Amino acid sequence: MELDELDLETITPRQVRQYLRDKYVIVASNRGPVEFRRSSDGAIRVYRGAGGVVTAMSAALAATEAVWISTARTREDALMARSAPGQRLGMPTENPQYWVKFIVPDKDEYHQYYNVISNSLLWPLQHYLFDVIRNPCIDESVHQAWNDGYRKVNRLFADEIVKEIRSTDRKPLIFLQDYHLFLCAQYIRRREPDVLIHHFTHSPWVQPDYLRLLPQSMRRELLQGMLANDVLGFHTHHYANNFLQCCREGEAVRVSVDSKRRVIRHGDRETYVRHYPISIDHEALERTAGRPDVAEHRARLRTLAGGRKLLVRVDRVEPSKNILRGLRAYENFLRRHPHWHDRVVFANLLYPSRLDLPLYRELKREIEETAHAINREFGTLEWDPVYLEIEDNYPRSVAALREFDVLLVNPVIDGMNLVSKEGAVLNSRDGVIILSVGAGAYQELRGAVIPVNPLDVAETAEAILKALEMGERKRKAMARAAREAVQANTSFKWFVQQMRALRHVERHREESRREPEVIPVVPSYERFV
Ligand code: G6P
Repeated sequence: MELDELDLETITPRQVRQYLRDKYVIVASNRGPVEFRRSSDGAIRVYRGAGGVVTAMSAALAATEAVWISTARTREDALMARSAPGQRLGMPTENPQYWVKFIVPDKDEYHQYYNVISNSLLWPLQHYLFDVIRNPCIDESVHQAWNDGYRKVNRLFADEIVKEIRSTDRKPLIFLQDYHLFLCAQYIRRREPDVLIHHFTHSPWVQPDYLRLLPQSMRRELLQGMLANDVLGFHTHHYANNFLQCCREGEAVRVSVDSKRRVIRHGDRETYVRHYPISIDHEALERTAGRPDVAEHRARLRTLAGGRKLLVRVDRVEPSKNILRGLRAYENFLRRHPHWHDRVVFANLLYPSRLDLPLYRELKREIEETAHAINREFGTLEWDPVYLEIEDNYPRSVAALREFDVLLVNPVIDGMNLVSKEGAVLNSRDGVIILSVGAGAYQELRGAVIPVNPLDVAETAEAILKALEMGERKRKAMARAAREAVQANTSFKWFVQQMRALRHVERHREESRREPEVIPVVPSYERFV
């Protein structure tokens, strides 16, 4: 039976491995599944990359001999990449299931590609987070970063991918990830016109008016680059529609949009626009939650709460996460509802992020100041209303998601938001989730969470009150509904859907090749570079 004919609900990893026997899966993402760092004893240790993509892909890639290409982010990554035989490292090291390869751009190229374009232009663009009064200011240095950094590193990825394609007799299936690699497919296509390529965007996709804030030359190149993929995946129907709308409104040149089939035609090619929400690996998460280090953190959090209710947030310190308004909402709640003083602790368990950028450093400082100010105003000798921790600590986060009474997830906008999904399956106290309507996950969790407008701190303050005072029966019912909604989808399914989409394209191609009137023309992607 064909992969795209198997029932998605019952498909197993074995069936997928069977299908992949004569295929060569090539995954490419800026951040890879592992990172090497030197620890205090001088030894180089491998750390598993956190995040949904790693979880989703690792489960599906086990025993497939796939290769995963990413950038070296530490000196030790570069060192390991150079010294490994064939510059490929087996993962996990003790029993390799797939291979990891690093590309090593020079420092300045990487800075232009990662900090200037990916994190300061594309990431805020895709989250509607331009500070339009001041930033971005697209001067010649940004254009130069686009030319010498962004294009360059996308080409490096393409070079490495083409090398891999040519190193094997197996049929390559390429999976590109996120905004760092919007141009990559076209560079591959020029040399390998028929290879199957899938790109997944992990952030939202904006509406045409917002995309138009990007200079015309850049947005056209970007869309043209994306349309060199066979399939474009997004988290939600809404983001996929936005993309189709951008193409419909002429942001991409010489294309026609087939809205019914959700396909964009350009030259003699087609690009399918699909949506499949990423999820989590429930079983792996449960196993982690059972670890002794998680148990220690759970006990620590309960001691910290000291018998009070535990309001929790777990997030990276990123502008989209809306951490400051979360604190403001809590402050507002404490001011309006003094009977809750000394009865609740708000634990902000955060991860540092992108500290090379002044905006992120400033945000971190403001969060620290705001938390201290709330503690100064409302705290007593026995009670600190806010607890703040900013460090990389996964077991702590898992423990907090087990222990919360209320979980605050109020991003201004978020591609998906896996914290809300992890919280829904991990929590052991029928805790209530307050979720921003701007999170992609809201589409799946509505009805099982208290929704909030992320900018409305007054509403968020009332949501905190409502969550804390919710009766047991309602809490139980909501927690159950949230858990079931998340359990209906898995990260494995997310990846399988992408493979099926590629198989569908392939079959369509095979069928159209059989029709004699179709004359294949090798497309040109040279136009915009
Ligand atoms: C955010 C985005 C993701 C992206 C990630 C990369 O969370 O929403 O789409 O993959 O950042 O983070 P990094 O730390 O690697 O820049």
